[in-house]
Amino acid sequence: MPIDKSELRRVMGHFATGVTIITTRDEGGRPFGLTANAVSSVSLVPPLMLVCVDKNADTYPYFERSGVFTINILAEGQETLSRKFATSGIEKFAGIGHRTNELGCAVLDDAVGHLACRVVRAIDAGDHTIYLGEVDVADAGDGAPLLFFRGGYRKLGP
Ligand SMILES: Cc1cc2nc3c(=O)[nH]c(=O)nc-3n(C[C@H](O)[C@H](O)[C@H](O)COP(=O)(O)O)c2cc1C
Repeated sequence: MPIDKSELRRVMGHFATGVTIITTRDEGGRPFGLTANAVSSVSLVPPLMLVCVDKNADTYPYFERSGVFTINILAEGQETLSRKFATSGIEKFAGIGHRTNELGCAVLDDAVGHLACRVVRAIDAGDHTIYLGEVDVADAGDGAPLLFFRGGYRKLGP
């Protein structure tokens, strides 16, 4: 008998992660994005990343259609940004500093790093879809990351 979702969420909350905003776009180039921590590197050769996107997210159809995404790794000062991109039904990009990369996705100002990916496979996985993306461009600075642990935002200790 599988466990229920609140138990899975509670236990996996003990697995500390970074926080990302995954961006994509519509056919006209309008940016979309959502906060995500179900993100992993998969392969170095070829360079592959995966992201898991909730089929019920408003942003989901744009991931399905565009075939591209960019993972923005958030810095410790970007908790407000993370909360904003974890909220449905609002204009997320209003007043948010970003540039558009070669895939047409938003690269957010002040993020610790980013990875621009082309979807090579979409895998149906319960209430999420796993997008496996080949990495075209990756870049990172030396800023401190934002962390997520047991339902709360954290920073690296001294
Ligand atoms: C720390 C954190 C991690 C999250 N990780 C994911 C994730 O990996 N995949 C996902 O689909 N949603 C994730 N979410 C939830 C989405 O950000 C949230 O459902 C958001 O409202 C979706 O926005 P949208 O409906 O505008 O697309 C996460 C939220 C938080 C706060």
